[in-house]
Amino acid sequence: MKALVLSGGSGTRLRPFSYSMPKQLIPIANKPVLEHVLEDIRDMGVTEIGVIVGSWAPQIAEVIGDGTRLGVRVTYIPQDEPLGLAHCVTLAKPFLGEHDFVMYLGDNMLPEGTAAIADEFREGRPAAQIVVHKVADPRAFGVAELDTEGRVARLVEKPQEPKSDLAMIGVYFFTPEIHRAVESIEPSARGELEITDAIQWLLEDGAEIRASEYRGYWKDTGRADDVLECNRYLLGSLPPAVLGEIDEASELTGRVRIEAGARVVRSRIEGPAVIGAGSVIEDSYIGPGTAIGQGCTLCDTRIRDSIVLDGAAISQVPGIHGSIIGRNATVGAGADVDTYHRLVVGDHTRIEVAA
Ligand code: DAU
Repeated sequence: MKALVLSGGSGTRLRPFSYSMPKQLIPIANKPVLEHVLEDIRDMGVTEIGVIVGSWAPQIAEVIGDGTRLGVRVTYIPQDEPLGLAHCVTLAKPFLGEHDFVMYLGDNMLPEGTAAIADEFREGRPAAQIVVHKVADPRAFGVAELDTEGRVARLVEKPQEPKSDLAMIGVYFFTPEIHRAVESIEPSARGELEITDAIQWLLEDGAEIRASEYRGYWKDTGRADDVLECNRYLLGSLPPAVLGEIDEASELTGRVRIEAGARVVRSRIEGPAVIGAGSVIEDSYIGPGTAIGQGCTLCDTRIRDSIVLDGAAISQVPGIHGSIIGRNATVGAGADVDTYHRLVVGDHTRIEVAA
């Protein structure tokens, strides 16, 4: 079996980050979403991976390379315009050949893994096996309607009035039959070739479509709040370790990971939290749910429930929470501002807040 990872698209819901980096490279618990995805695929026993890339191709290639570091082999497949999930399958046909494959959306997180579902697919080899998950509001997703026997009866992309609470989540298993379907469908109302429509086409053509329910934690990391929630969840199982330096005046409680070369001075860190390699934390409080990237400097600051990307500097800010601070951003004390702030700040942005 091969894999196809979709890492193109525009990422408009993650602005301002998507102006300066692809959403698939946003770090969750200090690791890009795309790396979490590639690791899940590797854990299915699949190592030949085609990655669809759009205009962010160079940045993605810089981080992922040829995949060796992650134990996989990556082939990049360029997509000039985000014309839809099914369009990606068409583009990948020369790479996929007549192999069965798993298609994985590069912004979806399924931390409990999908290896068991991959095994189910390998055993039964239906034309398509989709992965579904119960959600409170399915209108933003592809929705699967099952019949009384649990068989897939109908699939609808982002219905206004969903007839089921089962969202199709970003992992799909296919035999080569899907290629006939993607060639047969027309663009949807939003102008995209929808994979949901292609699977519905197969269903109407009499093919066998199965659905497996994934009961673990799932997140489409398309929006800033989803990124933060997923970060909190993943930090909860990060292996604690102190690989950097902590001085005597500092205190660590709970699940805390301090990477090599990081320094913690006169500070309190309450996990779950991670401090990336080479970062310096001085006279600060880092609270639960916080991931500090590499090479950051935090001084005289209180922060919790936030993500700070590589190279950011924060000083004299007493109350940051629920925030994402972009790469190399500077956040510091300023005059004439209130004490509490909630920030979602793009790369290289500068913000002044109360000391
Ligand atoms: O997250 C699950 C949902 O993903 C499913 O429930 C929907 O049925 C499915 O259509 C998809 O909906 P989204 O609107 O959330 O898809 P999005 O545009 O965010 O694209 C998903 C991934 O695929 C993302 O990593 C970007 C990438 N992509 C997207 C398009 C449209 C491409 O690589 N090329 C594309 O042309």
